[in-house]
Amino acid sequence: MTERQQPESPASGFPVPGAPVPGTLGPLEVSARFTATFGQEPDGVWTAPGRVNLIGEHTDYNEGFVLPFAINRTAAVAVTLRGDSTARLLSSYGDQAVVTVDLSTLSHDTMQGWTAYPLGVVWVLRQMGVAIGGFDLFLHSTVPTGAGLSSSAAIECAVASAFNDLSGAGLTANELVLVGQRAENEVVGAPTGILDQSASLLSTEGHAVFLDCRTQESKLVPLDLAAEDLLVLVVDTKVTHAHATGGYAARRASCELGAEVLGVHALRDVAEADLPEAAGLLDPETFRRVRHIVTEDQRVLDTVAVLAGAGPSAIGTLLTASHASMRDDFEISCPELDLAVDTALANGALGARMTGGGFGGSAIALVPAAEEAKVRDGVVRAFAKAGFAAPDIFAVSPAEGARRVL
Ligand code: GLA
Repeated sequence: MTERQQPESPASGFPVPGAPVPGTLGPLEVSARFTATFGQEPDGVWTAPGRVNLIGEHTDYNEGFVLPFAINRTAAVAVTLRGDSTARLLSSYGDQAVVTVDLSTLSHDTMQGWTAYPLGVVWVLRQMGVAIGGFDLFLHSTVPTGAGLSSSAAIECAVASAFNDLSGAGLTANELVLVGQRAENEVVGAPTGILDQSASLLSTEGHAVFLDCRTQESKLVPLDLAAEDLLVLVVDTKVTHAHATGGYAARRASCELGAEVLGVHALRDVAEADLPEAAGLLDPETFRRVRHIVTEDQRVLDTVAVLAGAGPSAIGTLLTASHASMRDDFEISCPELDLAVDTALANGALGARMTGGGFGGSAIALVPAAEEAKVRDGVVRAFAKAGFAAPDIFAVSPAEGARRVL
């Protein structure tokens, strides 16, 4: 989602890990809002989380590796099936009125604004032959929009889970991932991969999801930060660059060009040892894009290996190397993200990197609990000194994936 339109965005400040996220509504409260709007109780309430990506950026659509985890900021949807072909939708984003759509005339024109996410999922499911008639839906999300934390995928995955259950379609989590991705690609119009939806649907508390984006095979990797007195701080820079979508598509096109020139199906098939030869075959910019993907895939594999060995406190240098690669080779960082990373590192973070699609959004920092206040204060001060808007800084830990909560 590109616009900041969240009225109940988490307040700035320093919530402690495990503290309730401001603006969160419990299942019963979501249900009550639904009932107050539509005059009857919902058939159920489903939630799906946003994510941070620990490492593995822009590797998903290159059929490579990613290592995200779900965060405790979620989209919740309450849904009731109706007997007709009318969909009525309300969200708690901004001053919204109920949107009413006739599903028999569902088209790209009628899937606009925030409704493109839930209706996009319904459209894809119907295209797949899943019988979905009219429904009422209320959405409430605490995933900040435009922050690189997958607010879109959270909505898609909550809605996909809801209609999968209500229709009895019995789609697997991996199939629902592809439903969400299709909604994003074909309805919202963003040419994204499967990272975000996989994180939202496959995550389990206390684990990161190690995903092979070629085969959709995944493994849950234990990530017990608290056991090592560590935390992951998110620094939401509040920067949403208008060219983010264009920049994302341009990077994807560069990767496809690189693969074509190198004669491989996807950049996943290029090894680090192939890079010297690739340098001679590609123009300098395409080569830098390719080098990011190839080295990033290796960093994901290395991170998984280090987590299994020395543990999370030893992955910092890999995270920081990933940021340098995105800043210098893939060129998707921005001054605010670089400042967040550099300042976190200067104040005791073990590693830091931007997370998500880039061109703004959030950075993450791996921080020893004892250094938390120093890192937070340092980043807030550095942003003020640079004349940047105050960032939102909050701790996240690996949370549960999408599920029915009522
Ligand atoms: C966005 C996309 C993902 C992925 C990341 C970059 O979050 O939705 O598919 O490409 O950017 O890693």
